[in-house]
Amino acid sequence: MTRSDLIFGAAGLALAAVLAPAHVAAQSATSSPASPEARAQATLERMQPEEKTVLTHGPLAMPLMGPLELPADAVVGAGYIAGIARLGVPSLRETDASLGVSWVMGARGDGATALPSGLAMASSWNPGLLGEGGAMIGSEARAKGFNVLLAGGTNLMRDPRNGRTFEYFSEDPLLSGVLVGNAIAGIQSNHIISTIKHFALNGQETGRKFADVRISDAAARESDLLAFQIGLEIGNPGAVMCAYNRVLGHQACSSDYLLNTVLKRDWGYKGFVMSDWGAVPGLDAALNGLDQQSGEQLDPAVFFADKLAAAAKADPRYARRLDDMNRRILWAIYANGLDAHSATPGQPIDFAANGAVALETAKQGIVLLRNEGDVLPLARSAKSIAVIGGYADTGVLSGAGSSQVQGEGGPAASIPMGGEGPFAAFITQQFQRSVPLKAIREMAPEARVRYANGRYISDAVNLAREAEIVIVFATKWATEGADQPDLTLPEGQDALIAAVSAANPRTIVVLETGNPVIMPWLDKTAAVLEAWYPGARGADAIASVLFGETNPSGHLPITFPASEADLPRPKVDGFATLDPNFAGDPPTPDTRLSVNYDIEGSDLGYRWNAREGKKALFPFGYGLSYSRFAAGGLASDGATARFHVTNTGARAGADVAQVYLVSRNGKARQRLVGFARVELAPGESREVSVTIDPRLLADWNGKGWTIARGTYAFALGEDAEHLGEPVTVALSARSWKD
Ligand code: GLC
Repeated sequence: MTRSDLIFGAAGLALAAVLAPAHVAAQSATSSPASPEARAQATLERMQPEEKTVLTHGPLAMPLMGPLELPADAVVGAGYIAGIARLGVPSLRETDASLGVSWVMGARGDGATALPSGLAMASSWNPGLLGEGGAMIGSEARAKGFNVLLAGGTNLMRDPRNGRTFEYFSEDPLLSGVLVGNAIAGIQSNHIISTIKHFALNGQETGRKFADVRISDAAARESDLLAFQIGLEIGNPGAVMCAYNRVLGHQACSSDYLLNTVLKRDWGYKGFVMSDWGAVPGLDAALNGLDQQSGEQLDPAVFFADKLAAAAKADPRYARRLDDMNRRILWAIYANGLDAHSATPGQPIDFAANGAVALETAKQGIVLLRNEGDVLPLARSAKSIAVIGGYADTGVLSGAGSSQVQGEGGPAASIPMGGEGPFAAFITQQFQRSVPLKAIREMAPEARVRYANGRYISDAVNLAREAEIVIVFATKWATEGADQPDLTLPEGQDALIAAVSAANPRTIVVLETGNPVIMPWLDKTAAVLEAWYPGARGADAIASVLFGETNPSGHLPITFPASEADLPRPKVDGFATLDPNFAGDPPTPDTRLSVNYDIEGSDLGYRWNAREGKKALFPFGYGLSYSRFAAGGLASDGATARFHVTNTGARAGADVAQVYLVSRNGKARQRLVGFARVELAPGESREVSVTIDPRLLADWNGKGWTIARGTYAFALGEDAEHLGEPVTVALSARSWKD
């Protein structure tokens, strides 16, 4: 039994293996002295008053805002929180993020292994694989001396134009929660703390520091908050990072509703809440549930040092909170063994082995969207191949911002994309050192493979006309701090693809995008692959799928809309009036931006399409294979769903079977309630059983969950739109609390 089977396995196992809600994970203060809770209490009782505001704040550990003196044990990166040597409490050295140890513009001079983007990871629908990816990036963070990885970005994709869509997993709370939970568990298996972020409802980058999200408690609990709740239960992260935006008028990092009511009271969370960098509005955030001020030099003041100490002396509410803040941070340190397993910089890293994890993740994350006449896989004996555009002679695209990872030697190319101020250096279009043209040549050694960069359509068309096969690479750059204006491919790529595929119908499009895109040229093409931002070995993964060494098994974790008009919002709120501003600060102190998520409520993505009767360009859950699969025999009692999957094709492959609630009492209500990625030999059948999380069938009733009495219809899906015959189950009413 490999480690991944022990912790992760199929979704059902991951859910079944749920360590139970976080409050169960922590032991009572009266249990054995070794329990993290008891140890935290013991250390707190030994603290001197002046030591109680050591763990509660710290700087961005980079001289971005001017000269910065860092202690000797700091590691240049996102953050540093001093330790308490007298009590054996280690300092916290913090690095970003979900895709690997961030490059931070080469400030440390070292590289790390870049996993593919969150969207690519999620397209694998493979919790065990995400656990292995998490274990890998956590090991690199630790080898570099970091003991906190600011990973676990799992905001739901409320808007496919969000600039950070590439970093996150899905539009669905079950898929997001199960995947992020497994990634976090993998990271923390290295005795370092992972975060889960950005809590909560951080659904766009436009005006991110002041956008005020309006949403009902029930809609939030049944969608965005449920993703975090499942992720917390499976991954048990030591820390939660609160978000920049406002929720119902309050900054998320000072939201009594989010931090005290939902996270700590209802969910029983025992870890600590750290702020995002520059997200702390004032000292009273401590009373509203914030435990640690991060990147303090980006805030109006350092609230959680002397000011907090003074407040604790004068006000028993602050005194009680200050003890609780320390108890929580200490709990996370002890629960993950940071003190017993100290992370020291300069440890060796096996980049070859770690690159293999990135490669396998990229392979399983590639989604085959179109394959007319089975034009793919290509024959390795191909004679002439034209490769066009997408910097395919240079590297593969990566997303920009705090999550950006580069290998040794840094990016293969970095194109400035504008921006001003200290964060402008982050706003560059960077390509990782994995070259598609080279990988294609290696796969087809007899072929004449010629490249045109696609800047001139005439040049590309001439090349396409002469070739047996045409592979057009199209890129769509995305960055933290700015959203996309629309769903088109930029820089004339739509016209390029249309012209090339008109010149040669055997045109294959490889997309390297951080978001869904519309495809006006789709019907003219022979095949389309979505490779996302494919990471450190992305070119090898793309070539492996193109030439059939890998049988594609990716399935979309996000809906590709047929048009922007089908979305709940015609444009990202505020996009037209607010300049993209990486720091996210309001242009004037009285600038306000309201974002109304009650339009769709908890019905985002495929749920929105089902409710509104819309059809996607490519639906959530969609993905083709070089094999053929059939799923059937669905039976369910509402608590589990059992079915079988058969490989009816001629080659081994993997399928992702999906189980959906499709209606309740005859009214359309679509929810993914279970999934399983199944690897099958030709002709092989597998019986699968998935556990249905009852919260997916329930409504939030204000204090807990209620499953209404009635008839629930479930169906197997190849994706959210291609559904089998439903089976109905009569459920009696029941209510419960988290
Ligand atoms: C950023 C991001 C957050 C990151 C933090 C530290 O602004 O919002 O995801 O972890 O700052 O870099």
